[in-house]
Amino acid sequence: MRGDNMKANLRTFPFDLIRGDIRLVEESLASQVRTFDRALEGYVSYVCGSTGKRIRPALAVLAGGATGGSGEAHVRLATILEMIHVATLVHDDIIDGAEKRRDLLTANAKWGNGISVLLGDCLFAHALMLSTEFEEKQVARKIAHASSQVCTGEILQTQRRFDLQLSKADYFRIIEMKTAALFETACELGAMLNGADEGTCANLAHYGRNLGTAYQIYDDCLDLVGDESSVGKTLRTDLEKGKLTLPILNLLEAATEKQREKLCHLLVQKEPFDLSALANIADYEGALERAVNHATLLLREARQDLIGLADTPYSQALEQITFFLDDLLDQCRC
Ligand code: IPE
Ligand code: IPE
Ligand code: MG
Ligand code: MG
Repeated sequence: MRGDNMKANLRTFPFDLIRGDIRLVEESLASQVRTFDRALEGYVSYVCGSTGKRIRPALAVLAGGATGGSGEAHVRLATILEMIHVATLVHDDIIDGAEKRRDLLTANAKWGNGISVLLGDCLFAHALMLSTEFEEKQVARKIAHASSQVCTGEILQTQRRFDLQLSKADYFRIIEMKTAALFETACELGAMLNGADEGTCANLAHYGRNLGTAYQIYDDCLDLVGDESSVGKTLRTDLEKGKLTLPILNLLEAATEKQREKLCHLLVQKEPFDLSALANIADYEGALERAVNHATLLLREARQDLIGLADTPYSQALEQITFFLDDLLDQCRC
């Protein structure tokens, strides 16, 4: 991906190698939709059938390919992880009051919060039920653990809304739970299903954690600088909802006492405000830049995690994803 002139595009992650597997995952998701009560089918097919990037499924399949090959079990794992991801998005959009997701109205915008909370619950429960079909109990345990991590991360984040005492360590803990945990589990279990040795599973888990953390930092920058129509989801909600993300924490950290006072005043007012107000007070560009640089470092670390893998198109694809995300991050620099 590095060498070509194509501008990296969030919507086209470089998954060409596994198009066939992803098609199987789509079919598997569609067939799972049909197993829900008929009264729910419309809701489930709406949220699961929408055009997500399928990053977590792709990671599960690629980690499988990189450790001996991906098969039916990987497709099942990928289906489960995507269903859990969709459940978290349905709940997240309620919390964020978002109206647009994957270019469509969110479930909450369409059917209200009540139905959406329960829909998310049903998706979680269904995914966990599917995970009991793996012979190894440990697989279901890890999937359940990751789900609980995602929800815990979202709760911690909600507890700390508008909390100007939030430290970077707190922020990283939250995003590692709410986002990186699923990336990590996709990679680790993709390898574990092939009986890969402990070291390989741990390295891939670490790769997933680094990649997922970098991905959330990217998403947090995108919330500030992205274009809603090309991203396909509601943006600019983080500050309004009191989510203090890395660029904002950087801004506060580098501010003088006077600037900090002004920033704090702005950040705790629970109303939308023009982002240029931030730039007028302190070094907004530099704060974004440092967030991007941090994510770039994590991606470098993620590449190190892949060193022990055999050189195959799959391990190369895992590496390519990190370069691709690097390019996306570059586009966030002001
Ligand atoms: C969105 O995840 C939530 C974050 C972790 C930032 P994705 O960007 O993978 O969303 P979809 O699945 O492509 O819609
Ligand atoms: C990620 O956080 C949400 C989950 C991990 C569930 P965001 O709130 O930033 O995700 P988007 O921007 O709404 O996709
Ligand atoms: Mg959100
Ligand atoms: Mg976001």
